[in-house]
Amino acid sequence: MLHSIASLLLVSAGLAAGQAAAPPTSFANLVGTWNSKANSTMTGPKFYDPVNEKFTEPDHTGISYSFSADGHYEEAYYRAIANPRDPKCPKGIIQWQHGSFTKEANGSLILKPIAVDGRQLYSDPCSYDHAIYTRYNTSELFERYEVLTDPYRQIPRLNLFKFDGSPMMPLYLAMSPPEMLPTTTLNPLTTSTAGSKPTAKAKRSLNNNVTDKRTVGQRRADYWWWFGVAMTATGGTLYFFF
Ligand SMILES: *[C@@H]1O[C@H](CO)[C@@H](O)[C@H](O)[C@H]1NC(C)=O
Ligand SMILES: *[C@@H]1O[C@H](CO)[C@@H](O)[C@H](O)[C@H]1NC(C)=O
Ligand SMILES: *[C@@H]1O[C@H](CO)[C@@H](O)[C@H](O)[C@H]1NC(C)=O
Ligand SMILES: *[C@@H]1O[C@H](CO)[C@@H](O)[C@H](O)[C@H]1NC(C)=O
Repeated sequence: MLHSIASLLLVSAGLAAGQAAAPPTSFANLVGTWNSKANSTMTGPKFYDPVNEKFTEPDHTGISYSFSADGHYEEAYYRAIANPRDPKCPKGIIQWQHGSFTKEANGSLILKPIAVDGRQLYSDPCSYDHAIYTRYNTSELFERYEVLTDPYRQIPRLNLFKFDGSPMMPLYLAMSPPEMLPTTTLNPLTTSTAGSKPTAKAKRSLNNNVTDKRTVGQRRADYWWWFGVAMTATGGTLYFFF
C-alpha cells in the first residue's frame, strides 16, 4: 500500500516536471541485424528458406540476431563442434528460430520462439552422407545487453549477456533496418479448413515431422537422429552414437 502510494507520487512528480519518461520496454538501440565477427552468418531468407525447408550453409561459423522495432526477433546459428576422439570429424549444427521478445523492467531480454517454426540441421560428415533435419525451439533469457561503438572497428556493437551474466561473443551491426523473414508463423502445423476432418498429411505433421518435403537420402539420416534422441531419453548420451 505504502509502496503503491510512493510510486504514484513519483509518477506525478515526474509528470509535473514535464518529463516524458521512456517506457520501461524501450529497446530502440537494439533494432537491426547483428552478426558475429566473420559477418557471414546472417538472419533472413539467404540463411533459411522455409518454403523448401532448406538451409544455406554460410562460409564461416557464426551467429546472428535480428530485432525489429515491433518486438520480433530472428536468430541464426552456425556452429562447429570439435570431436576430441577424432579431430578430423567435427560436427556442424545450423539452427534457426524466430518469435517475439520483450525487454523486462530489470533490463533482461526474453526471447520466445514460435515453436513450430524453428529448425535444426545437424551434420556429421564422418558418420552420414546426409545431415539430420529436425524441428527446434528454445526460449532464451539474456540478463542484460549493451550497445556501444566498437573502439577498433568504429561500428555499433551489441554485447549480450547470458542468463548467468557471462558475455556472448560480440555482435556487430550488419543491417538496419533488420534483415528478417516474415515475422508471422511460417509453418503452421495444419492447414485444415474449419469443420473438416484432419487429413492423413495433417496428422503426420502433427507428429512434429518436418521431413516430408525432403529427399529420401535426407530421410534416411533422419532415422538415426530419432534413434539417437530415443536413446538419450533412456539415459545414454547422444554423442555416444556419433
Ligand atoms: C519445443 O521444445 C520442447 C522441448 O524440447 C518440446 O517438448 C516441444 O514439443 C517443442 N515444441 C514444438 C512445437 O516442436
Ligand atoms: C529479470 O526479470 C525476469 C522476469 O521478468 C527474470 O526472469 C530475470 O531473472 C530477471 N533478471 C535478473 C538479472 O534478475
Ligand atoms: C556485413 O554484411 C552485410 C551484408 O552483406 C553488409 O551490408 C555489412 O556492411 C557487413 N558489415 C561489416 C561490418 O562488414
Ligand atoms: C517423417 O516423414 C517421413 C516421410 O513422410 C517418414 O518416412 C518418416 O518415417 C517420418 N518420421 C517420423 C518420426 O514420423
